[in-house]
Amino acid sequence: MGSDKAVLSFGGPTLLARAQQVAQTVAAKTYIVGPREKYAAYGEVVQDIYTGCGPLAGIHAALKATTTDLNLFLSVDMPLMTSDFLSWIVGQAGDKDSLIVVPDALGGPQPLCAVYRRQVAAAAEAALKAGDYKIGHLFDKLPTRFLSEAEIRDAGFSPEIFRNVNTAEEYQSLVRAQTSPEGKGKGNNHQSQPYIEFQRVHKAFGSKVILDDVSFDVLPGETVCILGRSGVGKSVSLHQIMGFLKPDSGRIWVAYEDITDYGEEDLQRIRKKVTMVFQNGALFDSLTVGENVAFPLRERGGLEEAQIYQIVDGLLDMVGVREFRDLIPSDLSTGMKRSVAIARALAAQPDAVLYDEPTTMVDPLMAHLLGDLIKKLKQQLKLTSIVVTHDMALAKKLADRLLFLHEARAIFFGTFAEMAKSNEPIVQEFLQLDSMDFEHYFGAQRPAHEPRV
Ligand SMILES: Nc1ncnc2c1ncn2[C@@H]1O[C@H](COP(=O)(O)OP(=O)(O)OP(=O)(O)O)[C@@H](O)[C@H]1O
Ligand SMILES: [Mg+2]
Repeated sequence: MGSDKAVLSFGGPTLLARAQQVAQTVAAKTYIVGPREKYAAYGEVVQDIYTGCGPLAGIHAALKATTTDLNLFLSVDMPLMTSDFLSWIVGQAGDKDSLIVVPDALGGPQPLCAVYRRQVAAAAEAALKAGDYKIGHLFDKLPTRFLSEAEIRDAGFSPEIFRNVNTAEEYQSLVRAQTSPEGKGKGNNHQSQPYIEFQRVHKAFGSKVILDDVSFDVLPGETVCILGRSGVGKSVSLHQIMGFLKPDSGRIWVAYEDITDYGEEDLQRIRKKVTMVFQNGALFDSLTVGENVAFPLRERGGLEEAQIYQIVDGLLDMVGVREFRDLIPSDLSTGMKRSVAIARALAAQPDAVLYDEPTTMVDPLMAHLLGDLIKKLKQQLKLTSIVVTHDMALAKKLADRLLFLHEARAIFFGTFAEMAKSNEPIVQEFLQLDSMDFEHYFGAQRPAHEPRV
């Protein structure tokens, strides 16, 4: 897959993240095939053994590295690929007589969205040694099952899912075609589906009802702010998205999966995609700032020390606290701690970040800077975000849509413009609180540690 477009984001998660997401729904383990220095931060990497020989060398190296018999290969540049299709094609590979199962659709065989049995490695190695790099020649030599376009359509899939992209424009036009009513294929359109969704969630502690029939959704790349008075259930909502708490009824979807009944193992997989920046930062006090940020990188594994240092420095630089790398969290102000917590959340390479009150207990200047930082992360990394806040100025700066919780109900969910028209008195009160104009009070003053993003 090794082209640079893998780590580019075309209006949502990167192509690589998207491919990993769909692959992980069907595979017990996923590898990235490509140069380690480029991809180590994103997952476990397999490098070509025969270099400069094209995708066949990648297939060969991965089959040598794997311990499972059935191996699914998926090119990252097929952003319309779906877990439903991958699950179907893996199901087609149950027949032991075929060593390869490959779709023959959209103009020919699709060797980079196909299932290969491990023993294909030997034939691939022989071909590479003989200087024959054409994957198609393997299909002639080994028992191969071709899944015809008709068969694929009969199973309910559009051949469009194999469409690959090279530019943001191509990607946008693909998504547009898919989201138009006539272009919609079976379950293959994550881009228009919410990344996070509450469906009629009810949550009580004892007799105290905290959330009553609350529904809202967050689209990929969107920022939703959750507003409401203290104790209304904002943090409880975030904790349910992370799976720390379960709803009493209703469904919760995260990363396109219904996580409501998930156990710890599945939740941990989801928490790799969605991370939370806690109200108190939740940093490890005994570790330096740098080691705190390195923590998710070390947990993920596969990185050399030098690479970890490089990534940590880059992230600290991004949030404007690189000079504090060797201090311990107790030496930092609350605002600085929060910046470090954001850097640590980003180190996990999430698709989505949940921020719980990112600007409380810091001075207005720092609040302003943290708001700017979150905004820049949203724009640059296209992260899907939820920001819980009392701070209307922050909400105004960040929110695409807002959810207003009051007395256990979602009394408003929509854009700022729609909010202004809301008849709810409490919503109007909150809007009136938004009268402090930062620039008016503080002019052009900026602390020395202004985040650089
Ligand atoms: N694990 C728990 N057990 C019992 N009650 C809980 C638990 N967690 C939260 N609560 C209660 O649920 C209510 C909502 O709490 P939550 O922390 O979500 O409020 P919040 O909207 O985030 O408030 P704040 O703005 O003060 O952070 C509170 O009354 C709280 O005491
Ligand atoms: Mg809270």
